[in-house]
Amino acid sequence: MHIDSFEVDSPHVTYGYAPTRGIGRAPLSGASLHKQCGGRAPPSPRFIVRCAQLPCAQGGVHRVHVPVPDHERHQGRRQNGAQLATNARTAVSPAQQLSWPRPCPTVTPQVARPKTTEYQFRTKRKVPKMGLMLVGWGGNNGSTTTAGIIANKLKMEWETKNGKKKANYFGSVTQASTSRLGGHGPHSADVHVPFNKLLPMVDPNDIVIGGWDISKANLADSMTRAKVLDITLQQQLRPHMQHLTPLPSVYYPDFIAANQEERADNIILGESKMAHLEQIRKDIRDFKAANGLDTVVVLWTANTERFASVQSGVNDTAANLMAAIECNEPEVAPSTIFAVASILEGSIYINGSPQNTFVPGVIEMAEKHNVMIGGDDFKSGQTKMKSVMVDFLVSAGIKPTSIVSYNHLGNNDGKNLSAPQTFRSKEISKSNVVDDMVGSNRILYEKDEHPDHVVVIKYVPYVADSKRAMDEYTSEIFMGGTNTIVMHNTCEDSLLATPLILDLALLAEMTSRIEYKTAAMPSYSCFHPIMSILSYLIKAPLVPPGTPIVNALFKQRCCIENIFRACVGLPAENSMLLEHKRGLVEKAALSKGAGSSASGAAKKQKL
Ligand SMILES: NC(=O)c1ccc[n+]([C@@H]2O[C@H](COP(=O)([O-])OP(=O)(O)OC[C@H]3O[C@@H](n4cnc5c(N)ncnc54)[C@H](O)[C@@H]3O)[C@@H](O)[C@H]2O)c1
Repeated sequence: MHIDSFEVDSPHVTYGYAPTRGIGRAPLSGASLHKQCGGRAPPSPRFIVRCAQLPCAQGGVHRVHVPVPDHERHQGRRQNGAQLATNARTAVSPAQQLSWPRPCPTVTPQVARPKTTEYQFRTKRKVPKMGLMLVGWGGNNGSTTTAGIIANKLKMEWETKNGKKKANYFGSVTQASTSRLGGHGPHSADVHVPFNKLLPMVDPNDIVIGGWDISKANLADSMTRAKVLDITLQQQLRPHMQHLTPLPSVYYPDFIAANQEERADNIILGESKMAHLEQIRKDIRDFKAANGLDTVVVLWTANTERFASVQSGVNDTAANLMAAIECNEPEVAPSTIFAVASILEGSIYINGSPQNTFVPGVIEMAEKHNVMIGGDDFKSGQTKMKSVMVDFLVSAGIKPTSIVSYNHLGNNDGKNLSAPQTFRSKEISKSNVVDDMVGSNRILYEKDEHPDHVVVIKYVPYVADSKRAMDEYTSEIFMGGTNTIVMHNTCEDSLLATPLILDLALLAEMTSRIEYKTAAMPSYSCFHPIMSILSYLIKAPLVPPGTPIVNALFKQRCCIENIFRACVGLPAENSMLLEHKRGLVEKAALSKGAGSSASGAAKKQKL
């Protein structure tokens, strides 16, 4: 499997001109060339760089380097610079562009050279028996996830005022979406396969579910309390859920809203944080043994905590964090206790809430033990729309200048978020979701320029789990115009979050079975333990240190899909569809060669 990337010799920012075939010249920024290519997957492996010499006012020449398609290189033709201009920041004024020759700035020539790294992938094909332990099992998400798995496993159907409904996994990228394998037949018709058939993944119906909650209500009562599922479905599910009871959990009242105290009747007794850690570790081991599991994924879907303060000597290193737990340091949050317990038990840990569970000490510990972690905060409703909308606007050359988001929700999550310190965690998690998209377009935005971005969340009990999200996107358009888009989104919170919980667990487990090797590596290795591959499902993606955060939704999905495709030797999906763009010359050549080339073409079209 080949994956190409570009290296640019000099990161020095300069600019030059891409000569066009017609009249005029298109500006090309060295910065954008670098941005386009540097260290990332290229827009297409077909681009190489050409040096062009252009006259300047001093009688000398500008030497500039522009990417050109390699077929043009072979034919010695010039590239149409207009297409390059889409990525170029206009480094000169329009007047300067029209007056040529112009003063010659000091141009440091830079050369972008294609760099090829060969990756070999191998995947463990044995599908493990997987357990999923939810922290906050008795909450709306926890009970809905449990109910969803049971209803699907037992193929439940139920009556509603809108007719009969059947259990399904709609909303799950792994269970309800497909991947295009390629074209087939004389017209190269698309062939799609279910996403979960690309690699041997765990079937969600086979997940063994368990977990902890500070509330001791059994799962049937939790489901009723959640008011998420239709009552006729609840009646069918009740006998299957009433014997399921959450394990007692770690409760440090300071970390969640005071209004949660009345729920806390199922807590691990004692003050010792080290004893709490040991108990959670034992719970994971016991669950694994009791159910004969090969692997356990632990996922936090408990209440949002306040941010823990990151302090040197407390949670800045793995060793300090263990020492801090030993001496009952107040800034160690329950979620951090769960993360540490999971890592020490070799269990993948995923954080579905916004708080900073992954303090530096936890990250170091995950790296040291090579145990995968992922987070933070499920991306289910408003943020998901935002990561689509802003990507669309910015990539269309439209400049969002103000993004204002209101939510109101009436479930227990909303009640907990009504406290300022937990709201702050959510606000932080929602705040950076447009940064990479804004940063990708220096035509629209100056360096350090950002749209105004405000998020408001209110608790309105009456709407229960049916969250309302209202967004206003105001953008600058052509010639000083303004475009305003207003959106109203009714998000059935737990029905949107549950498929994400399943996807996170299934994708994380699958990813842990993928290994890769490059020529520079002595042996096969897993990906970095911080699973940025989960970003598609996550509001504030945690990524390995020094690597870019991608928030744009479709890029995030492509990342998962293309890695999975690479594992089975399929090329990355690039949407070029060249087989549907055959020109007259190619068509004529194909029909001339009728017999042999037609069958050759047919052969090539086979999957
Ligand atoms: N669409 C969504 O539902 C969505 C989207 C993004 C993030 N989230 C996050 O997911 C989390 C769960 O959402 P929910 O709607 O299920 O909330 P919920 O309040 O219904 O459930 C949370 C559960 O966690 C329990 N809990 C609190 N502290 C605990 C602890 N220390 N240990 C074990 N259990 C504990 C509570 O008793 C409760 O049962 C929230 O943090 C929320 O912000 C949800």
